[in-house]
This record gives sequence, C-alpha cells and structure tokens, in this order.
Amino acid sequence: MALKSTSKKFGNVPVLIHWVTAFLIIGLLLSGTRIAGLTDPDAKTALLKIHAPVGSLIGLLTLFRIVWWLFLDKKPEHPEGSPRWQNLSAQAVHFGLYLALILMAASGIGMFILSGAGPIISGWVDAPLPDFNDYPPRQAHGLGVWLLGGLLAAHVGAALYHTFVLKDGLLRRMWFSRD
Ligand code: HEM
Repeated sequence: MALKSTSKKFGNVPVLIHWVTAFLIIGLLLSGTRIAGLTDPDAKTALLKIHAPVGSLIGLLTLFRIVWWLFLDKKPEHPEGSPRWQNLSAQAVHFGLYLALILMAASGIGMFILSGAGPIISGWVDAPLPDFNDYPPRQAHGLGVWLLGGLLAAHVGAALYHTFVLKDGLLRRMWFSRD
C-alpha cells in the first residue's frame, strides 16, 4: 500500500488527510456560521464543544501536512501539458489554503485564550459566555472565512474544470490506491 506519493499520484497518507480535512472544513464552516448567529448561550456552548476541538485538529493536520511535504514526501508532477500559469496558480492556491487554515485555527484558539472561554465551555468555570467580538482574533476569524471561501472556490472550480471540461481524470490522483 503506497503511503507516499509517486510522480503521477498522491500517496494514501496525503489522500486521507485531504478528504478528512475537506469533510471537516464543511462542518466547521456550517457550525461556525450557526454559532456566530446564535444568542442562546446553551446552544452556542454545545456547538462550540465540537467546533473548537475539530478546528484545532484541522490546524494540527495542516501543520502535519506542511511537515509531510517539506520532509517526508514529494508532490506528483503537474498534469502533462498544463500551462505554466495554471501550475503556478495551483501552487499559490494550495499555499494560500494552508495559510488560511492555520489562520482560522490560530485565531479560534486566540479567541479562546484571550476570552477565557475554554474553561467555561468545558464546564470547569461557572460564568457567562464571553462576547467574542471584544477580542481582536474574532476579526481575523471572520476575515479568514472569506479568504478560505475564495480559495476553496478556486480549488474546487479547478478540480471541476479538469473533470468536466478537460476530462483528464486528474481527480483520480487524489484517491486511494492499493499498490
Ligand atoms: C480551520 C478551522 C476553523 C474554521 C474553518 C472555522 C470556521 C468558523 C466560521 C465560518 C465561523 C463564523 C464566522 C463568522 O460568521 O464571522 C466561526 C466562528 C467561531 N469559531 Fe471557528 N473555525 C475554525 C477553528 C476554530 C477554533 C480552533 C476555535 C476555538 C478554539 C474556533 C472558535 C470559534 C468561535 C468562538 C466562533 C464564534 C464567534 C462568535 O460567536 O462571534 N474556531 N468559525
């Protein structure tokens, strides 16, 4: 079973991290938007109990991915015949996605540390939930959503373009293989 990538295909470790991250990001975007709109503290606390650890996990997975690509594995080559500007744009979008995910995780953790929300949400301290808008990382968290959203739109758009316009089967590179 190929854990690492070849020149033509991603290995099973990066494939697993890619799809787990994709699935969890959808959940984080939906739960985060819901939390921001809630006024009921109990409902907000219940959702934050899931949102905060999952968001932190995404931060860790992103750091692991960076270490993986820097030291342990090499990405497959660009698709054959793909123009240079597309290769450079893909690299920029991938780099931007890592950056946006780290920004989101770090600003979320920052909000928790500065506001003291962690012990309140865990039930260790009996106090009202803080207003996160009073803490500067909240603004970064809100802006990060737009950055992440724009980059995700470009990333998914490119995958759809390869699949339905170029029909080059590029998406298969990002799926599990037995050999
Ligand atoms: C990749 C990781 C994350 C993503 C994609 C994400 C996504 C979101 C989104 C979309 C919102 C709504 C923002 C808005 O409407 O302006 C939100 C709100 C929030 N997130 Fe995250 N988040 C992540 C990580 C975290 C972490 C690690 C924590 C805490 C440890 C956290 C704590 C919060 C809090 C407290 C709010 C609500 C703030 C409020 O009620 O005003 N998030 N998140």
